[in-house]
Amino acid sequence: MSQTSSGHLDHVLNEERLFPPSAEFTQQAVIGSREQYEDLYRRAAETPDEFWGAEAREHLHWFQPFEQVCNWNTPHVEWFVGGKTNASYNCLDLQIASGHGDRVALIWEGEPGEQRKLTYNDLHREVCRAAGALRQLGITQGDVVSIYMPMTPELVVSMLACARIGAIHSVIFAGFSSEAIADRNNDAQAKLVITANGLYRRGKILPLKETVDEALEKSPSVKNCLVLRRIADQPTPMTEGRDLWWDELVETQSDDMPAEPLDSETPLFILYTSGSTGKPKGILHTTAGYNLWAKRTFQWVFDHRPNDVYWCTADCGWITGHSYVVYGPLAAGATCLIYEGAPNQPGPDRFWDIVERHGVTILYTAPTAVRAFISWGDEHVDKHDLSTLRLLGSVGEGINPKAWMWYREKIGGGRCPIVDTWWQTETGGIMMSPLPGITATKPGSCTQPLPGVIPKVVDESGHEMGVDEGGMLCIAQPWPGMLRGIWGDEQRYVEQYWSTVPGMYLTGDNARCDKDGYYWIMGRIDDVINVAGHRLSTIEVESALVSHPSVCEAAVVGRPHEIKGQGIAAFVTIRDAEPDEKLRDALRQHVRKEIGALAQPDDVRFTASLPKTRSGKIMRRLLRDIAAGEETSGDTSTLEDYSVIAKLRNDEE
Ligand code: WTA
Repeated sequence: MSQTSSGHLDHVLNEERLFPPSAEFTQQAVIGSREQYEDLYRRAAETPDEFWGAEAREHLHWFQPFEQVCNWNTPHVEWFVGGKTNASYNCLDLQIASGHGDRVALIWEGEPGEQRKLTYNDLHREVCRAAGALRQLGITQGDVVSIYMPMTPELVVSMLACARIGAIHSVIFAGFSSEAIADRNNDAQAKLVITANGLYRRGKILPLKETVDEALEKSPSVKNCLVLRRIADQPTPMTEGRDLWWDELVETQSDDMPAEPLDSETPLFILYTSGSTGKPKGILHTTAGYNLWAKRTFQWVFDHRPNDVYWCTADCGWITGHSYVVYGPLAAGATCLIYEGAPNQPGPDRFWDIVERHGVTILYTAPTAVRAFISWGDEHVDKHDLSTLRLLGSVGEGINPKAWMWYREKIGGGRCPIVDTWWQTETGGIMMSPLPGITATKPGSCTQPLPGVIPKVVDESGHEMGVDEGGMLCIAQPWPGMLRGIWGDEQRYVEQYWSTVPGMYLTGDNARCDKDGYYWIMGRIDDVINVAGHRLSTIEVESALVSHPSVCEAAVVGRPHEIKGQGIAAFVTIRDAEPDEKLRDALRQHVRKEIGALAQPDDVRFTASLPKTRSGKIMRRLLRDIAAGEETSGDTSTLEDYSVIAKLRNDEE
């Protein structure tokens, strides 16, 4: 049920706290003054061709210069037309040519504790070898390679090896089922799957190859399967003539394989994201514009300096792992930490142990993780020295002000700015975020647009909303990192993103802009709750619930109500409290006090966990069905743990 129709969203949650960066941070920041930001922003908005032309010439390597900066033919865009570059070259060769070959590119830690460090020279050599192996397997420009691997250096190597020869990678998160792999293989007509013989997760071995084998029975386009021996001595089924070991094929290749000069618009990758209904969409990104966007947004938002040890906890199976583990940081010459396993293995302090041992300076994670850390207890954090941290980031969902404050105080010691980054798989990189040297942050707000991003909050007819009026968030001009389409589905691309508000990219999120020009994401358009004609945002009611000391996480959805049209059903997880009538009542009163009678939930249901996607987002759509007493519908392939739904249903009976 879509609720895009009629009127603005009522804004009910007030968050007035303001946290300016310290003078010390500002002094050494990449963007260190408001004037500097305003100048960048103005030039990108007023003379985008000049601005992005200069950016691209300075920040990417060109085998052949481009002739035109932007060719915009709504809803199709090309950037840096006529130029030739290569994303793997920008991430590796360019760093080496700038004298950073000996700098550590990747620090890897496996779940059982193994460690490896690869310099830019090492990574270059590994990528060249893997590219040689791809060539030997007959992979050429335009072929699709599915990658289903644990977070290991070889996952990054595989992505960059594809990029080096112009093959298109499609990374599939290594927790998806064989059906999900087969669907993606078939949709993209993948020719090769790269996988591993297992991965460690919560102390157990997941035998990835068996899952891939099942998928390959239903993936006729796939000719070969390249298998990393992640786990020595793990019995692994290998099919003669089809399956090859990484150590046998890759490690015998030449250490040097020149990067292919590729047209700017050469497809770089497809990444499948779940639609709320129907099959997953293969979001397409291309070479030059995407690489530039990932690199520059990384430098601006994470305020990167050469000595930083940067840790983005996302898996490469998600866009965050593409843009902020691989293409952004490596193109900027950063030292990136990657970790294979679970945050609570062997204990709930694993992340803080890693931060302390490796001297992590920048940490980028998701609200779902922050909320988990809160519920596990402060004692696990207190055991470790986190004083190397200087900047914290958040992505993936709105972060409730309570979680934001905890992150700031407990992890950041009150001294680290938080960058709450709003963006999407489709946008390729960060669109709105504080700039840590200049933005006074407000808990729960992604604050301001980056240069080149023109956000508009509008109603159905495209009219802009007033201050603090919630509406649909659109982007009015193309930017270099914009998706180029949905793989094989032009019609869906046009319908999904370009048909609701003419001429503008529809993000699918609601937002409001406050009197200071700060943006607040209000949740997905489809999740709006309409109570007696008042349209409420999910995140505001959830944040009010979470601000109660006993609540860890909350998800609210609308459910049919005879008089009000919709009532509010709240699903909450609690800590240090009894799930009884008294607490239920207290929570309803709490919301009433915080944000008003209108937003008071009709039902409060206690649950041990909430249904989430494998990337940690709360799936409100499933809760909506449960609250309405209906069968769950739509695609559930991205659901992390189906038993959560079963339990919620049982609780109901
Ligand atoms: C949500 C992840 C609030 C939003 C990079 C968006 C956020 C969707 C934030 C994209 C944030 C992401 N504040 N909401 N900082 N970041 N979202 O494609 O609804 O996995 O549209 O990309 O996540 O999710 P995706």
